[in-house]
Amino acid sequence: MEIDATQGPIGVFDSGYGGLTVFREIKDALPEYDYLYLGDNARTPYGTRSQETVYDFTLQGVEYLFSKGCSLIILACNTASATALRTIQQSDLHRWGEDKRVLGVIRPTTERLSELTRSGHLGLFATEATVQSRSYIIEGANYAPEVTIHQQACPMWVPIIENDEQESQAADYFTAKYVNALLKQHQDIDAVLLACTHYPILAEKIRSHLPKEIDLISQGTLVAESLVDYLSRHQWMQDRCSQEGRMTFLTTDSPTDFDTKATKFFNGSVKSEHVTLL
Ligand code: DGL
Repeated sequence: MEIDATQGPIGVFDSGYGGLTVFREIKDALPEYDYLYLGDNARTPYGTRSQETVYDFTLQGVEYLFSKGCSLIILACNTASATALRTIQQSDLHRWGEDKRVLGVIRPTTERLSELTRSGHLGLFATEATVQSRSYIIEGANYAPEVTIHQQACPMWVPIIENDEQESQAADYFTAKYVNALLKQHQDIDAVLLACTHYPILAEKIRSHLPKEIDLISQGTLVAESLVDYLSRHQWMQDRCSQEGRMTFLTTDSPTDFDTKATKFFNGSVKSEHVTLL
């Protein structure tokens, strides 16, 4: 990819494929920008790793995307947003200069919490690391203190999705298990948020196990709408983002595997290149 000293693509980072469910909404909302998607497939999943490890891996991804000319990076991964974003923003960002920004997926979602539930009891499915971080509960208290968040970790869903086992008995078993565990936490839960970017791929299965009066919410459009708003309020950042409608996909694992599986997450064909992060 050509590097322009003053303008560059918007970087999108994820532990692997999941971020593509967010990226497809961003691309729909802002098709004119250039994008550089980086999936750390060689080290996925992040959701079962320690906070220190997720921070180290995410920092390497962010460093790589800045080195390729991005000024704005979206961490399209809840686990990375929950465990690494704050430290990167507070302790690392200044090293790349004043005009660089890293944004996550949790704030755009928590800012809209009060729209998502009528009863004030929101269920949330996420990885173990996101649940442990309590980031949604902490950020949610700032934007919608009237909403109580009930969290349920779903460690088996990412492996089921990555192995294309959404229609298997195992998928039914673990979906029923996590849905029941969540709904047991409070009888007034009237909406459930998929707070892991992989989970929209399993949405149909999850929907089939949820009572029909409970809403099921994916966060891709919330993140895309928030980015539209951010760029409209920050002209200086718009000026640093090139706008020729190009997309480049990078993976730390096999591009052949990435291209095959990514289609399912992106709803469109993908041609990736291999990179190494260190
Ligand atoms: N898709 C990531 C998220 O939103 C997690 C997947 C993983 O465990 O790597 O949390």
